[in-house]
Amino acid sequence: MRTTVGIIGGGPAGLLLARLLHRAGVDCVVLERRTREYVERRQRAGMLEQGTVNALREAGAAERLDAEGLVHQGIELRFDRERHHIDFPGLTGGRTVTIYAQTEIVKDLVALQLADGPPLLFEAAALAVEGPRSEAPVVRFLHQGRERTLTCDWVAGCDGFHGVSRRAFPAGTCRSYAHEYPYSWLGVMAEVPPSCEELIYARGDRGFALHSMRSPSVSRFYLQVPNGTDPGDWADSRVWDELDARFAIDADWTLRRGPITAKSVTAMRSHVHEPMRHGRLLLAGDAAHIVPPTGAKGLNLAVSDIRVLARALTALHRTGESQLLDTYSELCLQRVWQATRFSDDMTRMLHAQPNGDAFDHRMQLARLRRVIASRHAAAELAANYAGLPLPV
Ligand code: APR
Ligand code: PHB
Repeated sequence: MRTTVGIIGGGPAGLLLARLLHRAGVDCVVLERRTREYVERRQRAGMLEQGTVNALREAGAAERLDAEGLVHQGIELRFDRERHHIDFPGLTGGRTVTIYAQTEIVKDLVALQLADGPPLLFEAAALAVEGPRSEAPVVRFLHQGRERTLTCDWVAGCDGFHGVSRRAFPAGTCRSYAHEYPYSWLGVMAEVPPSCEELIYARGDRGFALHSMRSPSVSRFYLQVPNGTDPGDWADSRVWDELDARFAIDADWTLRRGPITAKSVTAMRSHVHEPMRHGRLLLAGDAAHIVPPTGAKGLNLAVSDIRVLARALTALHRTGESQLLDTYSELCLQRVWQATRFSDDMTRMLHAQPNGDAFDHRMQLARLRRVIASRHAAAELAANYAGLPLPV
């Protein structure tokens, strides 16, 4: 097989790139290791910046998002049994965020791709990217029990944190920066209407809790738990009692309970791989960077990489101009590091430190009080959460 852009990975990054390239008349092929059912069922985050919504509209993939997405005007912070609203439009000059599950984005993109897009192969696992510095790099992959090759002008490594693309960078050409946090998140899906209108980020002595949602009838919760936690140790009643305790405030508020349909544990880590380009191989999304989910930046960063990459490849295709491709890594990494910093700040401000002392505790409260007391500090949080300007 031969194509202009070989895309490894059919997550939101790879699928969105395929849509944008297809609309620009650039030929591509997507290789996805898993089955369609698996990628459409995988539960991930669901908070979209305005720039992400715009990018999906630009790709012609926002019909259901526009009909079903829940537009939020801010978030709520809870600590010391108090609640505080952070008003995004008021603090950012009118920006909002939208709740729409990543799983739904993947379903929308897969349907479009299979209807009129370039090839999307499921159960096609890339084994290696060969000759990334040559004129025609090759992706070796396994499909239907046979080893095959895809020869490309460019390869987009959109294969997530556990993919193979990063391995094609020879030693000495790249560097990774990593940090593991000393706690994880227990994620819980419940068939119950949300008990709030906006997401609640709660900091308490028992640990962090987040109340999010998927729709007017489905709630999503997260609890800070120790690393290595087995979700099987969390009976439904224990989950609800712990959420009750962590969201407790002095005002009148009750958490609605309902049937829990899924529980899973996710580690919290930051990881940045530099640079994001080696020859004709370009990394995007989780393949290049991971942030802890507290700032809801993972998906948004992936989409911002893809916007730059799609523009760069389109410019090259239309005019032969390579300037944007040459600055791809640098442009994306500036935004990646700002999102990593913001996600790290939010994470440290809101989680109980396992071995923290009374001083650490006071510092966290002082940071939270500053966000509430200072319009300047609140505006800084809102600007980062709602999304810094896109690089292009
Ligand atoms: N060959 C083909 N496909 C692969 C391979 C491989 N060797 N390895 C991984 N993949 C596929 C995975 O099965 C997955 O579908 O690549 C895809 C990567 O998708 P994601 O992990 O969702 O990553 P990405 O598309 O970058 O999406 C952005 O940011 O914080 C997160 O939750 C957010 O998952 C979202 C991500
Ligand atoms: C989610 O809805 O899954 C979600 C929302 C906000 C976050 C993380 C996850 O910060």
